[in-house]
Amino acid sequence: MNKVTVLGSINLDTTIRMKQLPKPGETVHSKELFSSGGGKGANQGIAAQRSGAMTTFIGAVGNDEAGKLLLDLLSQDGIDISGIRTLENERTGSAVVMVDDVGENCIVIHSGANEKVSLPNSNWLIHQIQNSDFLIAQFETNLNVIIQAFKIAKENGIKTILNPAPGTNRIPRELLQNTDILIPNETEVEIITGLTVQTEENLETAAKEILKYGVEVVIITLGSRGSYYFSQNGSGIIAAQKVQAIDSTAAGDTFIGALAAVLKADYSNLVSSIEFASHASAITVQRYGAQPSIPYLKEILATK
Ligand code: RIB
Repeated sequence: MNKVTVLGSINLDTTIRMKQLPKPGETVHSKELFSSGGGKGANQGIAAQRSGAMTTFIGAVGNDEAGKLLLDLLSQDGIDISGIRTLENERTGSAVVMVDDVGENCIVIHSGANEKVSLPNSNWLIHQIQNSDFLIAQFETNLNVIIQAFKIAKENGIKTILNPAPGTNRIPRELLQNTDILIPNETEVEIITGLTVQTEENLETAAKEILKYGVEVVIITLGSRGSYYFSQNGSGIIAAQKVQAIDSTAAGDTFIGALAAVLKADYSNLVSSIEFASHASAITVQRYGAQPSIPYLKEILATK
């Protein structure tokens, strides 16, 4: 069983379902509105935990009802929340997620407390990191804190996984130098490399660019097409299962958490781990919401 530490965001998602996403200036009717746990970090932590990992979370919430609810949800899943701070005078992070009838979404986030995440005291952190197999982060929290945490992880020989989402072309070189596994989607990889990635050849060129920074493995998620992986030991596209997608929210997060739960630190089971992660994510897209849609190990194994 892998031990996974996630440094990341925690959001209360308000999901609004509608026939078609509105165009600028347009008002549309919704079909359903509901709230659920979300945030890329929290979703990835829950996916890792439900896929069989022992997960610890580093993050922040506000001292409000949403914060209490979201901490409860993480605890109910068995995640160690001792690295999450409750901040006075900050709102808990929130997101408005619009989902259309074909499962596409548009998301607006309000960072709130996520922007103020700081690392827990260094004894706790070093102990935690030394006892982990993987440290995961995304870009919904403060960048400097991610760099600090990744440096500590590397100094302690722990593998780091970076999900560069939401995409930015201002990723400090220092962060990539301390990243072992980079998991972007197509848009994010185009933002990072400035290259278009439509064919397998394009994907390889972009992945090789990223490896120049010292990254060991690049996995580019390709939505319903599956994912493309590249490392010194091999590369290829792993097709996704064909399913009827109704909501793609947290599909990428599920992939990342599930992968971290089963991947060996020497990457010797990289292909089977990607297949596992992609089975998990295929379940997520068939359900509404972020955290409620993330599957448990039993369900993932049942689809294989
Ligand atoms: O990746 C999906 C997540 O992005 C949502 O849960 C939302 O909170 C935003 O962070």
